[in-house]
Amino acid sequence: MTALISPSILNCDFGHLADEMDKIATADYAHIDIMDNHFVPNLALGLPIAEAAVANSSVPCDAHLMIEQPDRWAPAYAELGFASVTFHAEAAMAPVKLARELHAMGVRTSLALRPGTPIEPYIDLLPEFDQILVMTVEPGFGGQKFLDLTLPKIQRTRKAIEDAGLDLWIQVDGGVSRETIERAAEAGANNFVAGSAVFKAEDAVAEIAELRRLANAHL
Ligand code: DX5
Ligand code: ZN
Repeated sequence: MTALISPSILNCDFGHLADEMDKIATADYAHIDIMDNHFVPNLALGLPIAEAAVANSSVPCDAHLMIEQPDRWAPAYAELGFASVTFHAEAAMAPVKLARELHAMGVRTSLALRPGTPIEPYIDLLPEFDQILVMTVEPGFGGQKFLDLTLPKIQRTRKAIEDAGLDLWIQVDGGVSRETIERAAEAGANNFVAGSAVFKAEDAVAEIAELRRLANAHL
């Protein structure tokens, strides 16, 4: 397994979206955060901006839906051309039905867990997904501190995936930086969302390369 780096554009300069997307052309995915001000206390990026991000990206895009009623809205994001669509376990009414619907549309399908949501109730659902997103901050804002208390959950999720003989990715999102990426990789994550670490760096390309190097050394 090799490390995947997925910069989040949440805090990029939206006045120059195309230039910002160009900065992350060496990443594996572009991570696009969608927030509805209900599931999280913040509002960010609806369908039109998400569509512009996909159109301007030279790498596949990953939608992270921090919204209520993903059962109703997630298929519209899959239709926009996202390679991967993540919805939250806490918000979905029928996660298996939704995962199957998204798979039928040809996208990678991913289930996200807030820091306080355990993986255990979802272990039987793992075969329905391509990825589990373990949030390493409370979702809603960029620039927060990585929560080390999520590391045991990453480990338990990796073990559950291996015990079931499956091949899911584990994505981590929130506070991922040069300082924290090694412990996330060590715990079993292989897909790393980094917002401020990449977009606040002077050289985004060098930052992506360094994050990838650090993570690969610990996979
Ligand atoms: C937060 C979002 C993240 C955010 C990460 O709820 O899901 O994707 O942009 O930002 P950093 O890397 O700055 O914590
Ligand atoms: Zn995110």
